[in-house]
Amino acid sequence: MTSLLVRWVYVLAFLGQVLSMPTIETRQTGLDRCKDVTFSDVIKKFGGQIATGSPYTWQNEPTPVGLDKTKVLNVAGSLGVGRDICGLRVNVTPNIALELYLPNPTKWNANKRILTVGNGAFMGGTSRYDMFSRAMHDYAVMSTNTGHEEWDLSWANKENQDTLQADWAWRAMNSSVGLAKELVKAYYQPAAGSVVRSYYSGCSTGGRQGIRQMEVNPSSFDGMLIGAPAWNVRSAMPVLSRIAWISRTYDLEDRAGTDLHQRLYKNVVDRCDTTTKGDNVPDRIVSNSDDCLAMFKNSSIETGAVWKGYDCDANQTPNTTCITLDQRRGFMLLLDTFLNPSDKTYAGDGFDITSIKDLAVFLDTGSIDGFNDEFSKYFIGKQTKWDSDENGITLLKDTIDWDKKVRANAQGATLKNDKLRTILYTGTADGTVSSIGTRRLFQDAGGSSNANLAYFELPGMPHCTDTTLGAENVPWYIGGVNIASFDGSYKWWMDNKTLQGPAYDALTAVAEWVEKGTKPSTLIATAFQRGTGSRWAVSRQRPVCASPLKQVFNGDVTKQAEIDDVNKWVCK
Ligand SMILES: *[C@@H]1O[C@H](CO)[C@@H](O)[C@H](O)[C@H]1NC(C)=O
Ligand SMILES: *[C@@H]1O[C@H](CO)[C@@H](O)[C@H](O)[C@H]1NC(C)=O
Ligand SMILES: *[C@@H]1O[C@H](CO)[C@@H](O)[C@H](O)[C@H]1NC(C)=O
Ligand SMILES: *[C@@H]1O[C@H](CO)[C@@H](O)[C@H](O)[C@H]1NC(C)=O
Repeated sequence: MTSLLVRWVYVLAFLGQVLSMPTIETRQTGLDRCKDVTFSDVIKKFGGQIATGSPYTWQNEPTPVGLDKTKVLNVAGSLGVGRDICGLRVNVTPNIALELYLPNPTKWNANKRILTVGNGAFMGGTSRYDMFSRAMHDYAVMSTNTGHEEWDLSWANKENQDTLQADWAWRAMNSSVGLAKELVKAYYQPAAGSVVRSYYSGCSTGGRQGIRQMEVNPSSFDGMLIGAPAWNVRSAMPVLSRIAWISRTYDLEDRAGTDLHQRLYKNVVDRCDTTTKGDNVPDRIVSNSDDCLAMFKNSSIETGAVWKGYDCDANQTPNTTCITLDQRRGFMLLLDTFLNPSDKTYAGDGFDITSIKDLAVFLDTGSIDGFNDEFSKYFIGKQTKWDSDENGITLLKDTIDWDKKVRANAQGATLKNDKLRTILYTGTADGTVSSIGTRRLFQDAGGSSNANLAYFELPGMPHCTDTTLGAENVPWYIGGVNIASFDGSYKWWMDNKTLQGPAYDALTAVAEWVEKGTKPSTLIATAFQRGTGSRWAVSRQRPVCASPLKQVFNGDVTKQAEIDDVNKWVCK
């Protein structure tokens, strides 16, 4: 009886494959080659070793000590999806590990795509959620642990610190990309001569890693999706220190209950959401922050119309409804290019005027001091921070010297590689990696005359993802990494097939560009009804246009349905 049932399951399974019905049990049959022996020849050739408990499936996914986030395939199993993914962890060196999620061979063979996903900040460990959400859609996905597992900065100050820091900067990625390609081929055994494409997706440090890897080894990727890349490492850390110094000097800290940052943000949105050129849409999203900045710069800090209603009293006594003259000065200073205090040359990028809400964490001098202290102690090896101009110069110089050693900084010239297609994006409201710096990277790479590069600025989008879950519910999901950051969000990602098409999903757009030659000129960014049930429904969508064009609303601003209708927007 039982064996008859099993036979029937196999027959149905076979039919399921033919009719491409999503039968979960069917898909498990793809796991036949999820065994050590499949990979051992490649491992022998490249060195390293398969980690204990690996390869694994959702049924026996290991939980290495300190790595709760590993249980992704198991979580997916309980959702009834993803059961045909083979997980593999390889210790490339004693400290560098890579992981691969290998989807069902039948499905993988349709497109033969390998994807590498990046990491974040200085954090170690592989990016399993980002791996999973793409393995679910038939990419074989690799992520490295960047040479360490820790999430705080202490890893950078061990005995072998030079090795660990260079591993984080570029070496873990370079020693994993080529090995991963061979492991993927060992699993699927594509026919001789068949084309296997290699893609990359990362944001922030992840964006930097992709660009940097193409410098280290220009044949690594055929296409990349790069979000808000922290490419300018030499400036990024001094800029953060300087922000804390500005905060202290101009009283920009959000003292409990004063809501200063919300007030500054509200003022910007009140002035700019409805009045500037190209943004007559009342949606609490500033669509043209360049014009908004021009308006603020054009207005006197002391008496200008843009500050009306926020004047503190003659003694500039701060309270919960006003903004002092000093606070206005500090705010405007954050937006300016950061100049070397000694010779007034460029030292780092200022921030977009709408980034004030996202910037808040760096204006909190308590938390940023801790981060600064750790960075200078563990990476630079001394205690320098931007608490005066003199120390500021020292920190700039020390950070450049440090980078000469670890070689993390990435350059826009890489994106001119004519064998590479890249979509670069940033949220304009990014308060961590300046969107002005991302725009500069785009210009350094040839700007809109670079046929291999498409650049998108998403109005109102914070850094890589929206951890504040802001009430504006900005449409910014374009399929970048972090699509699985929120509880439940990978359910919508897996469920809604339309959203994985090239119109909505920038990674698919990159892949189609590489494979079919169609350069994307528009993407449709999505916002979701957050936390509503187990499936997050689409709440609204809006096109975003590749630079130099901008999305402009062509409908009736009094009708919400028109504002949320993608067809009422044009690229101009
Ligand atoms: C990067 O990795 C490749 C192997 O994929 C290797 O040939 C090359 O030497 C590495 N580059 C450096 C700078 O180590
Ligand atoms: C700057 O202010 C002047 C005078 O108030 C005005 O004529 C001009 O249009 C303003 N420019 C911008 C960009 O707001
Ligand atoms: C804050 O100061 C402004 C200007 O002096 C004043 O008009 C306002 O009433 C004050 N608000 C509070 C809550 O004290
Ligand atoms: C799936 O995506 C499409 C395209 O964005 C959208 O129109 C549709 O409403 C989505 N379905 C759900 C359930 O959110």
